[in-house]
Amino acid sequence: MRPYVVAGNWKMNTDMDSAIALAEALRARVDALEPGAQVQVLLCPPYPMLASVAAAVKGSPIGVGAQNMYLEDSGAYTGEVSAAMLVSAGCSHVILGHSERRQYFDDSNAVVNAKVKKAFTGGLVPIMCVGETLEQRETGVTEAVITMQIREGLEGVTAEQVRTMVVAYEPVWAIGTGRTATPEQAQEVHVYIRDLVATMYDRETADALVLQYGGSVKADNAAELFAQPDVDGGLIGGASLKAEQFLEIISAAKARTAAHP
Ligand code: PGA
Repeated sequence: MRPYVVAGNWKMNTDMDSAIALAEALRARVDALEPGAQVQVLLCPPYPMLASVAAAVKGSPIGVGAQNMYLEDSGAYTGEVSAAMLVSAGCSHVILGHSERRQYFDDSNAVVNAKVKKAFTGGLVPIMCVGETLEQRETGVTEAVITMQIREGLEGVTAEQVRTMVVAYEPVWAIGTGRTATPEQAQEVHVYIRDLVATMYDRETADALVLQYGGSVKADNAAELFAQPDVDGGLIGGASLKAEQFLEIISAAKARTAAHP
């Protein structure tokens, strides 16, 4: 069975106090939800709060991820952070190629690919985001867009690496809009991605790949999205900033893994 991974993408929100308070509130309650169910929970706060959030959840089953990183190891890159810095701050994962990075910061497929490879060599698990815009969906090029993002994003990535990474399918039209993909739409694209990865690598690799869905996942729609056989978790934005909501989403994921261990 594939791991189930629920990650909270805090984006550019919280400050030091509220970030630590949120991490502590989650830590205090996450264990009580469906004890024994296997769900990896990750918090992805902004860079300045990474080490403090990592300290707040240390010794608990909650892990920490960053929202981005740079593709070089070190040097004169003012304002950037490396994979090694993230590891030393307590991160196990890093989100790469989020649509907001692609849209506002020109993270192309080639840049995302370089970062994915750097994450692996630096000891981080990449969560590589893909997804189509509304216009692309309406003009019928969703599969073509996803194909390019996956093929170019995974260029030179080995099968062994793909088996340990996470791909998040996040339709751009569903992010922060309250308009979530239907469970059927999510499942359809997840199957498409898995079959594509099978043609690029092999079936075993495709079956091991963890595929998260992201885009307006809330407490009231998480269970139906997580019920889809090829949805292996969620990348949660807005709803991960409220402990109550995020705990309900984690609970839905735990109920799903308990029902289909
Ligand atoms: P949202 O964001 O849950 O607020 O739609 C998801 C994401 O961008 O990762």
